[in-house]
Amino acid sequence: MRTSRLNFLRGAIPVLALSTVLLVGGGCKTPAGTDTTTSGSGDTGGTIKIGHYASLTGETATFGKESDEGVKLAMKEINAAGGILGKQIEVETQDDQSKAEEAKTVATKFAADDKIVAVLGEVASTRSMTAAPVFQRAGIPMISPSSTNEKVTQEGDYIFRVCFIDNFQGGVMAQFAANDLKAKKVAILREQTSDYSVGLSDVFTEEFKKLGGTITVDASFKSSDTDYRSQLAKAKDADAIFVPAYYNTVGTIARQARELGITAPLLGCDGWDSPTLVEGAGGAGKALEGSYFSNHYSKDDKAPRVQDFVKAYTAEYGKAPSGLAALGYDAMKIVALAIKTAGSADRAKIKDALAQTKDFPGVTGNITIDPNRNASKPAVVLQIQGNDFAYKKTINP
Ligand code: PHE
Repeated sequence: MRTSRLNFLRGAIPVLALSTVLLVGGGCKTPAGTDTTTSGSGDTGGTIKIGHYASLTGETATFGKESDEGVKLAMKEINAAGGILGKQIEVETQDDQSKAEEAKTVATKFAADDKIVAVLGEVASTRSMTAAPVFQRAGIPMISPSSTNEKVTQEGDYIFRVCFIDNFQGGVMAQFAANDLKAKKVAILREQTSDYSVGLSDVFTEEFKKLGGTITVDASFKSSDTDYRSQLAKAKDADAIFVPAYYNTVGTIARQARELGITAPLLGCDGWDSPTLVEGAGGAGKALEGSYFSNHYSKDDKAPRVQDFVKAYTAEYGKAPSGLAALGYDAMKIVALAIKTAGSADRAKIKDALAQTKDFPGVTGNITIDPNRNASKPAVVLQIQGNDFAYKKTINP
């Protein structure tokens, strides 16, 4: 086993590079029936089964829905191009209702299904962190498309992600505040029960201070809160307010800030990425107009592979893809590539192949999985202009 493993690893890079070309884009480039190698677990007859757990309902429902749309578009393209190892991919999506306990329940269900060879999910860091131990114990590769908290992949060698981490993302917004907005004083509003929000607040504080800035207020709230006025009242003299929370609370925070006469821009991160963000802030041109957030991708990116994706997604769903859709799409393609590279739908072999992913040309940037099973990629800063998230700049790691 040891020798064949070594041979596999040696062969991995060239195979990966070739497969990458075959998997990108919607075109049918793999002659049907050329990949017939199959092995052991995951043999469901005609299909290779992948799980996806996501918040299709509940507080952050747009996250799960858009992530799933991206996953399903990638699946469709892969299947249209002949599938993998001569089989079609089948994705089973389970709703975790935006709840951490439910994410764990769904993970346990997937772990009991021996046809599942790998699992995609979750979007939100806290939910990924709750489910990851179940997959690690069961020996099922889990690939989060979009959970950015540093701790997510620390659970073990079966846990991967295809997005950047918050140690980078928090620094991106600190740099943007200090260098682009010339902000000197920033107030922070953090959601105390979210690993994502707490992690980003800490990183932002450290990086912004290094750049000579001052954090004038660091106030907390709970996801169930609806009144943020006492926290905001302390933030009146800030040049900007950093709110690394999810879209479902940001709109109300922005409205209440404006009611208190605060005109400073709000700054956020990828958790703002939702088609209902602006509506929650009172609509286009209202409380969030001109505010900024960091994200994984911009639909305005002129790169042909991004524009091909935007076209295919828009044709499928009748709207432009969000960062979540783009990450779901990339995550599905990377898993498919790993199965192809492994030459097998065996869970352990998929895990080994995932760890070897190098320079995959994703729509969210080139993806190389590092030794900590994270991806190092550029971030974009977007500005809210009407209902649009307009591209401002790219910040490299
Ligand atoms: N990064 C967020 C988290 O870890 C989730 C997210 C990703 C939300 C991308 C929106 C867009 O919780």
